[in-house]
Amino acid sequence: MDKKLIIAIDGYSSCGKSTFAKAIAKELNYIYIDSGAMYRAVTLYCLRRGFIGDKELNMPGILGELKDIHIEFVYNPDISEYETFLNSENVEEQIRGMNVSSHVSRISQIHQVRSRMVELQRQIGVLKGIVMDGRDIGTVVFPDADLKIFMTASVDIRAKRRYDELRGKGIDINFEEIRNNIIARDITDENRDISPLRRADDALVLDNSRMTVEDQMEWVRKIIEEKFDVSRN
Ligand code: DC
Repeated sequence: MDKKLIIAIDGYSSCGKSTFAKAIAKELNYIYIDSGAMYRAVTLYCLRRGFIGDKELNMPGILGELKDIHIEFVYNPDISEYETFLNSENVEEQIRGMNVSSHVSRISQIHQVRSRMVELQRQIGVLKGIVMDGRDIGTVVFPDADLKIFMTASVDIRAKRRYDELRGKGIDINFEEIRNNIIARDITDENRDISPLRRADDALVLDNSRMTVEDQMEWVRKIIEEKFDVSRN
């Protein structure tokens, strides 16, 4: 394909955004960027530094060290995927654990954290030929993205997918805990003051509750072919 696109994928937690975004990136030979991983990495940093209390955040601590938090995505050829690095350490596993998941919404509500992440995301976007997933990619980060997709699926299906994923990784977790975490994150994501989760007016909605990844790929291939008149090799 000649024209390099920016594809923005937003939607609720555990909808399969990253699986879908990765599959699109692979097929088009694009770079895949998981913006949620960036907020997770900042959360991990704050947890390690003791900045996250039960009720309160140590805001001076967080803001004072924001400039010391460096996040990169490094391609691992062994698994053909990008992995998240925090200050040169591979944290891909740790950012997916329940501890980070339980606190990430609080950290991603901080206006200065969001500005810094959006700045980094736009820098990566200059490359074009990227698929980025998150909550505000089509609304805030790339309002002019070539293609915007807004994903959704039922809460029970999302909880089951997350449960299977974590269990598959050998993480001992209870289904209700995951379900409650997803519901809580939906509420925080949709109701926060800055960049709340919402569908961009020009985003196409994809409810994948009853779709396989291949079904979703067929759906998006058709759209890309029609919208951009491209032939895939
Ligand atoms: O997609 P995820 O579950 O890994 O995202 C982790 C958290 O980060 C989620 O609670 C919402 C937040 N997030 C965000 O606020 N903006 C983004 N662009 C991506 C994620």
